[in-house]
Amino acid sequence: MKPELASTEQPIPILDFGSQYVQLIARRVREAGVQALLVPPDITVAQLRAMNPVGLILSGGPSSVYEAGAPRCDPDIFNLNIPVLGICYGMQIAAQLLGGQVQPGQAGEYGATRLETAKEPQAAAMVADLFAGVPEQTTVWMSHGDQVRDLGPDFMPLASTKVCPLAAMRHKTKPFFGVQFHPEVTHTPHGMKILENFLYRVCHAAGTWRMGNFGEIAVDKIRRQVGTGRVVCGLSGGVDSAVAAALLHRAIGSQLTCIFVDNGLLRKNERQNVESTFRDHFRLDLRVVDATAEFLDALAGVTAPQKKRTIIGKAFIDVFKRASADIPDARFLAQGTLYPDVIESGHGYARTAANIKLHHNVGGLPAELGFELVEPLRDLFKDEVRRLGEVLGLPEPMVWRHPFPGPGLAVRIIGDITREKLDLLRQADEIFLEELIAAGLYRSTAQTFAVLLPVQSVAVMGDGRSYKPVIGLRSVDSTDFMTADWSRLPYDVLARASGRIVNEIRGVSRVVYDITSKPPGTIEWE
Ligand code: XMP
Repeated sequence: MKPELASTEQPIPILDFGSQYVQLIARRVREAGVQALLVPPDITVAQLRAMNPVGLILSGGPSSVYEAGAPRCDPDIFNLNIPVLGICYGMQIAAQLLGGQVQPGQAGEYGATRLETAKEPQAAAMVADLFAGVPEQTTVWMSHGDQVRDLGPDFMPLASTKVCPLAAMRHKTKPFFGVQFHPEVTHTPHGMKILENFLYRVCHAAGTWRMGNFGEIAVDKIRRQVGTGRVVCGLSGGVDSAVAAALLHRAIGSQLTCIFVDNGLLRKNERQNVESTFRDHFRLDLRVVDATAEFLDALAGVTAPQKKRTIIGKAFIDVFKRASADIPDARFLAQGTLYPDVIESGHGYARTAANIKLHHNVGGLPAELGFELVEPLRDLFKDEVRRLGEVLGLPEPMVWRHPFPGPGLAVRIIGDITREKLDLLRQADEIFLEELIAAGLYRSTAQTFAVLLPVQSVAVMGDGRSYKPVIGLRSVDSTDFMTADWSRLPYDVLARASGRIVNEIRGVSRVVYDITSKPPGTIEWE
């Protein structure tokens, strides 16, 4: 057994030609119960053979196979005698290497497209394995300008679209299959079926791989990377850093020190939850730095949102630097970077993935801190990280916690920040969350929180009129946080939250619910 393979499942290496979907392919393979390994396109045949793969996938990519410098793979991979599935660019490169011809199409094809599988008796038999259970006419997601124009004598077509006569093909004698469309995206309704057909009908994979296997492999990798070195991990209270810490703790135990910076801008009980999980339950070396005064002093009188972010970012680096300097033998810094963070910074294996977005959520600590990075979650999507968190025994509320912005409540208090405002907002936020959780709606919303508005309004309480601030409630449904819609929360839940907020918190006159979608409104108010 290879050292990185803690499970007996034979893996599927995926040659990464730079597609923005490459991790999605890996994720679908894992979902189907097979281990997926991303590898660079120029991997050697000997290296592939050493992985004992059950099959290979060639990913898509942004290049044209006929361009100089376009990524290629060793043509000998087709002689390994294991099934190969080429997707988009992966199909084109295989066609080119095996005697077909690729050219620019007369028209590109982007988006949902009607696909028809071949009907002639001989072809229909050849379609039977990859397209088993897929309707003869189905919708697929296309994204290509080039296409295979001439199959050469050794291939046969399996499916076509209006623009692309060779939308799927297979080799007549080698176990090679190609699809021009993207089976890995949800816009291809039978895409998962096609991938499963490849894995089970063509490759005969065992299908025994589970998230726990990822954990074992990751533990092994961490141990090999850090040896006997000391690792520092910054905990934010969020799920990514929590899972990274739990994984590291399993891998290296007492070689791990976690730092949690209390910036005074956290939600109610945030610090206590982190302490009870990591210090009391996992018993790891947790250093909590109370830097409230430092952050609030630096923020005094500041109202501009981006200025708040800059101040908080800088203060965090200063505090973290000092805290980590107290751990003299620390050589490594662990971060809970996920795959979406990696792809957003354009850092795929092929390093050609288009730079999709640069977002304030991606950031972290500067390289000048001098640590070597340990990023055990780099290949995973958020929901996979959550599953791993469950496997590692993290408490449910931590695993399913909504995202919380780095600048915390500072961007939820519109205007300047004071301790009094923070206390007030914390209470309102806690009440809203309590009601959401009591109604069983926490997991079905993506992000739910309260905002303190810089507006005073009149309330009549007892016999007196008061003139007090307004609390805004925001709850959104979203999968990727790039777009979001406001949650249609039941009126009863909103009524209970509003009633409790105005009654239990002195100093709030009124509660409003934000019904703005994103776009145009952002999720946060600042
Ligand atoms: P927006 O408000 O841009 O938020 O629609 C999208 C997601 O990003 C989070 N967010 C932040 N996260 N630092 C962070 O770490 C920030 O400055 C920041 N601003 C917004 C927001 O909570 C949502 O999940």
